Amino acid sequence: MGKVFTVAIIGCGSRGAESYGRIMAEWKDKFRIVALCDVNEEKLRVYGEAFGVPASARFSSEEQFFAVRRADALVLATMDNDHVRQCEAALRLGYDVLLEKPITGSEEECKRLLAAHKKFGGKVVVCHVLRYAPAYRKVKELLDEGVCGELVMIDSIEQVCYWHQAHSFVRGNWRNSDETTPMILQKCCHDLDLLQYYAGSRCDTLSSIGDLKHFKKECAPEGAADRCTRCKYVETCPYSAVAFYIGEWKRIGSPANAWPYSVLTTEFPIREENLRRALEMGPYGRCVYACDNNVVDHQIVMMTFENGVKANLRMTAFTACGGRIMRFYCTKGEIDMEDETGTVRVRPFGKEVETIDIRALQEGGHNHGGGDAGLMHEFYSVLCGEEDAPTRLESSVESHLMAIRAEESRLKGGVPLKVHAE
Ligand SMILES: NC(=O)c1ccc[n+]([C@@H]2O[C@H](COP(=O)([O-])OP(=O)(O)OC[C@H]3O[C@@H](n4cnc5c(N)ncnc54)[C@H](O)[C@@H]3O)[C@@H](O)[C@H]2O)c1
Repeated sequence: MGKVFTVAIIGCGSRGAESYGRIMAEWKDKFRIVALCDVNEEKLRVYGEAFGVPASARFSSEEQFFAVRRADALVLATMDNDHVRQCEAALRLGYDVLLEKPITGSEEECKRLLAAHKKFGGKVVVCHVLRYAPAYRKVKELLDEGVCGELVMIDSIEQVCYWHQAHSFVRGNWRNSDETTPMILQKCCHDLDLLQYYAGSRCDTLSSIGDLKHFKKECAPEGAADRCTRCKYVETCPYSAVAFYIGEWKRIGSPANAWPYSVLTTEFPIREENLRRALEMGPYGRCVYACDNNVVDHQIVMMTFENGVKANLRMTAFTACGGRIMRFYCTKGEIDMEDETGTVRVRPFGKEVETIDIRALQEGGHNHGGGDAGLMHEFYSVLCGEEDAPTRLESSVESHLMAIRAEESRLKGGVPLKVHAE
């Protein structure tokens, strides 16, 4: 049996506790969760009990938590603007860190964290989970093998999905860029990371346009209430919180614990009355036309990589389902990939089309097409000293610089910008 690493988690939310925490608690031969930190006492209690962490090792104060090192490794999954400060504290104490993306929305903070990493050492793996999903790895393999010749251009669509936009970017955590990172970084640092990984080169120049078209006061239907539970359009509005958080939850079989319903309550199994209470009182019951959101609902980024490959990324809220669609134009054929249909197609010019079923590659379960579980395996190997993760801090900063530059370009009306100063 291999070594069992002790783990502390800071930020016991959807990612820290529900995703990574639950996997780690299940994989007892690899991890043992020994300490938790969250500003929310209720989450500390719920996950402390779920993971067997005693009350004496649950901290609601970040200062107390970082007073001493409490485990071999730290899962850092608080909100975006806390990551750099907390990661610096962790590295200073000698932790190896699993760091949620985005690292930060600021170029200066990226540099500060790289400097701290250089000074203190420690392993930092950034949660670009899709790099560990088998289907995305398969595409990279096909490109590297040159089955369709040389890569010329990539066309990529991030289908945010109408309800996911409403959940995260209108009512939820990432709705307002004054409080958190811009949407192109929050939602698309995975896509940008994949694009530079597939292009096999750093991004040279990019430009971006985008806007908030729909989720604003002037788009509300006549006489809409500011909360769905009290609104006359509750049955007909496509963004009705009641239709989604209760109707859709029931339609899929009233799961005891599933994202995004689990964001509305800390009581599991989830019950209808708890969801209803959250809609009556909490942020997720607000009308999508009456929130304090300001992030975009559609954005396009055009890129040229240093090796000449071109790419285009379209992020849009206005899709019926989520997932990515990517198409790779190569000198001797096309490769395309679609999350929704679960397929990768290889189309060499003048030859038979080969269809690879992604779902067959995704065995192993967990979210992000098996990427969450893949990342946990990788983190374990990194802790054991067996591997150097492809999404270590230094390489992950690249996609962040691309997103930061894209937002800068968008705010300047789409001017082309160099990603790197040199
Ligand atoms: N890798 C991915 O694909 C992916 C997907 C979704 C979210 N994320 C990222 O994961 C991070 C967390 O997102 P989430 O969806 O889990 O959010 P969440 O709100 O469910 O969890 C965040 C938790 O951090 C806690 N917290 C806030 N400030 C804190 C502090 N100072 N000290 C301790 N705890 C604090 C909150 O109480 C909450 O429990 C974000 O940075 C987000 O961008 C990554």
